[in-house]
Amino acid sequence: MEEGRRDRVHTPRGAVTLRVAYADPPYPGCAHLYEGHPHYAGEVDHVELVERLLAYDGWALSTSSKALGYVLGLVPDDVRILIWVKNTVRYAWEPVIVASAREPAVGLRDWIHCEPDAFQWRQRPEEHVIGAKPAPFSLWLFDWLGASPGDDFDDLFPGSGAVGRAWHIFASQTRLVVPEARNGRAVRRANEKALRAHPQLGDAA
Ligand SMILES: C[S@@+](CC[C@H](N)C(=O)[O-])C[C@H]1O[C@@H](n2cnc3c(N)ncnc32)[C@H](O)[C@@H]1O
Repeated sequence: MEEGRRDRVHTPRGAVTLRVAYADPPYPGCAHLYEGHPHYAGEVDHVELVERLLAYDGWALSTSSKALGYVLGLVPDDVRILIWVKNTVRYAWEPVIVASAREPAVGLRDWIHCEPDAFQWRQRPEEHVIGAKPAPFSLWLFDWLGASPGDDFDDLFPGSGAVGRAWHIFASQTRLVVPEARNGRAVRRANEKALRAHPQLGDAA
């Protein structure tokens, strides 16, 4: 079967299972950082990688601020660019390019500030790799993917396996099914209240 997109699976309750993917490759020009790793194979061909991603219902691709111009030239126009901010100095943010499988929740921020896991005071796990993503990042990413806990998720460059572990937590959550109409009214009321309290949120495109 073709990787990525395929006939959508309808669950017994009518929900649709979508296929979503996250690609966190060595960033362009940085493959040497992973020399000696089991999956190391030199620079990743980003043209081919984007082709692979486009086969999914929703996908996200991490890259570096330095490579963003190049990578943007490879992806369709209708993606969003999100930002992961860290407390470093010269490279304090990383772009995440996302094509959501479903409309993300209104009010979901297009940036997140969280730190990579640190190991000054505890043992570094054997599976740790440079560029491992912390759990808050992954959970925020799943929301931007418009993912649902029943979806199929492919982590194309698992590294430490941290994103897959976060997906396991995300996918284990039971979500209340709120009837559409009531949900719509509740969301509208919540939005109006938030806008009264924080008028600057109205700037959102
Ligand atoms: C940025 S890390 C992924 C980090 C992962 N998201 C995490 O949270 O741990 C990139 C991973 O791709 C692997 N890798 C390096 N070169 C590769 C190649 N040419 N093809 C596939 N994987 C490669 C590296 O060994 C590393 O595990």
